[in-house]
Amino acid sequence: MSFSGKVVLVTGASSGIGAATAILFSKEGASVAIVGRNETKLSNIAQKCAQAGVQPLVITADVSNEQEASTIIKKTVDHFGNLDVLVNNAGIIRKASVSDPNILKVFDEVMNTNLRSIVQPTRLAAPFLVATKGNIVNVSSVASTRVIAESYMSYCVSKAGVDHFTRCAALDLAASGVRVNSVNPGPVRTDISENAGLVPPCAGNITWDYMKTVTALIRVGEPEEIADVIAFLASDKARSITGSIYVSDNGQIQNSKFKNLFCK
Ligand SMILES: NC(=O)c1ccc[n+]([C@@H]2O[C@H](COP(=O)([O-])OP(=O)(O)OC[C@H]3O[C@@H](n4cnc5c(N)ncnc54)[C@H](OP(=O)(O)O)[C@@H]3O)[C@@H](O)[C@H]2O)c1
Repeated sequence: MSFSGKVVLVTGASSGIGAATAILFSKEGASVAIVGRNETKLSNIAQKCAQAGVQPLVITADVSNEQEASTIIKKTVDHFGNLDVLVNNAGIIRKASVSDPNILKVFDEVMNTNLRSIVQPTRLAAPFLVATKGNIVNVSSVASTRVIAESYMSYCVSKAGVDHFTRCAALDLAASGVRVNSVNPGPVRTDISENAGLVPPCAGNITWDYMKTVTALIRVGEPEEIADVIAFLASDKARSITGSIYVSDNGQIQNSKFKNLFCK
């Protein structure tokens, strides 16, 4: 699955799934632009991308900030000349019940980061993707179709929005030959919970070993496995696929223990 000569922009590439995705595209010959806020982590991933392939473009930006999100496409095209693939991956999880006095604050933070943040980059990327017959992969979650646990309404609603945005954008851009799909992981071994301020490694006393038991295959995914699905959807092998929601969850949503994710 060579991406030689292709330009790929990955948001949220400073850790987890986005980092693995940036490294994989680099290994496959792409010129990669990586976006995040943490400069130290970005620089560490930039080194790994460079070792795997071409020196990446590092863009420090907060995608929940409209002004900053608006710059990432221009910076990538100014640097590499065009754009073939946009991976909207940056995301956060936050815990707050619908009866929490802070719920609107949490809701706005999560929606701005996980959903609103992908609208402007998609709009600004579209003309460049039309020119290259490129495509977009959004990183959603199984939380888009199943409520993963109590007190994660904001996250679940944001990911339901990502799925429907994917379908709508796919239809809007299909006539121009641009494909739009999403990848929807179950539990993947990343820093997402620690980054949310939840007690490591997941939430409360939940361990990765416990997380395995909520899946049918009794295993937790690795970031590289999600990167593989993203690369497949971004490749010509997926040329007939658009508006699709690709689940990679070790069978979590088929498992009757699904609801116990954060609620041991
Ligand atoms: N891990 C899982 O179990 C799982 C399951 C389903 C879906 N997902 C989804 O996978 C995606 C990646 O998550 P992950 O598990 O890899 O988590 P992670 O390790 O915490 O990575 C999240 C990435 O998003 C970036 N990010 C967060 N807020 C940002 C902002 N405002 N502006 C720019 N970048 C921002 C972070 O970079 P900075 O901190 O440097 O800004 C980081 O690079 C998310 O959309 C998440 O919802 C994860």
